Amino acid sequence: MTSDKVARLVDAARSAPSADNSQPWRFVATADEFGCHYCRRSAVDPFGASGHATLLSAGAVHENLARMVAAPAGDGVVNRRLDSDSWSIALPLAQFQPAAVPREVEAGISGRHTNRRPFRKDRISGLASLLPAAGDSLRVVAAHEAILALAASLESCSRARFNDPELHHWLFSSLRWDEAEAASGTGLDMATLHLPPGGRLFMRFMAPWERMRLLNRLGIYRVLAAADTALFRQAPAVLALVGGSGPEEVWETGRIMQRTWIALNQAGVAVHPYYAITDLGNRLAAGRLLPDWTRSVGKALDSAAEVLNLAPRERIHMLFRIGYPTRSPVRSRRLPAATFLAADRPPSSRQAVA
Ligand SMILES: Cc1cc2nc3c(=O)[nH]c(=O)nc-3n(C[C@H](O)[C@H](O)[C@H](O)COP(=O)(O)O)c2cc1C
Repeated sequence: MTSDKVARLVDAARSAPSADNSQPWRFVATADEFGCHYCRRSAVDPFGASGHATLLSAGAVHENLARMVAAPAGDGVVNRRLDSDSWSIALPLAQFQPAAVPREVEAGISGRHTNRRPFRKDRISGLASLLPAAGDSLRVVAAHEAILALAASLESCSRARFNDPELHHWLFSSLRWDEAEAASGTGLDMATLHLPPGGRLFMRFMAPWERMRLLNRLGIYRVLAAADTALFRQAPAVLALVGGSGPEEVWETGRIMQRTWIALNQAGVAVHPYYAITDLGNRLAAGRLLPDWTRSVGKALDSAAEVLNLAPRERIHMLFRIGYPTRSPVRSRRLPAATFLAADRPPSSRQAVA
């Protein structure tokens, strides 16, 4: 029975979203407890154990596990420990009754996914009623002018991103170019991206940073940033997850993000997350942005804060482009379940540790 319990929890936890599908966690199962903590799975991890993106994802894992025990134990039985440089989640196995998990709960967890394809233009009917109660943490942006203003901020941050060698290496270390690479179960399968004809070839061409740097002198980063934000501009609605900067608030936003994403997908609404404003904003705050880009990124943050009417203590944790899907996307894969229960191993190559 315990191994069935563990298998169900592993499946729920590993389906959580992570930046570039990095899956930065490991699970530990004892006779009494199922636990989860940080584990670096790729040679490049720009976020680390307590980075913003990692904490958002950890919040999503927490939410998935809490949903699995909510009936009948109540989600309070899932414990979170958050220190300055580590975190863990623990769940007493005695409190988990697999037979009590409603079918739609597991279907919601496993059905949540990223959709990077174009969406229909029509408005989402009854959007407010689909969203979980989240107080001020969740802002709906439906006015076209406001979406365009956010898109302009996103585009500025995207330009900075395409000029940043560290982010370039991170992206290209994450990409999985063909079926054999995608089968590793980690990283960004090219088939999940929405690229124009020739886009894949062009990405191959720009993979070496030296070449990208030269292309950037010709302004290629402008073209890429415009392409990166084109679908965002056309979105029938955008959701902004906002809140304070403390690690606990980021974690709780991760839970709200997951709740929102599951609810929307279950209602047939597609979700495409955009993290560039948050990421570049974090780099600016940490003094890790290249000097040429601090002004434009700072302006982009100010403008986005104005559109969303953010209070001084609030910032953007994530943006979602949402809408009715035109086509089902290719679903991103995961590392095999057993990998998450194996002992930590240091990453040994550019590829994921499997
Ligand atoms: C913190 C975070 C940042 C993300 N940023 C982006 C992003 O900027 N653009 C994007 O297309 N997807 C982004 N994603 C989506 C992930 O790439 C996606 O969740 C992952 O590849 C797994 O796919 P799935 O959501 O379909 O399970 C982000 C997800 C998280 C949790």
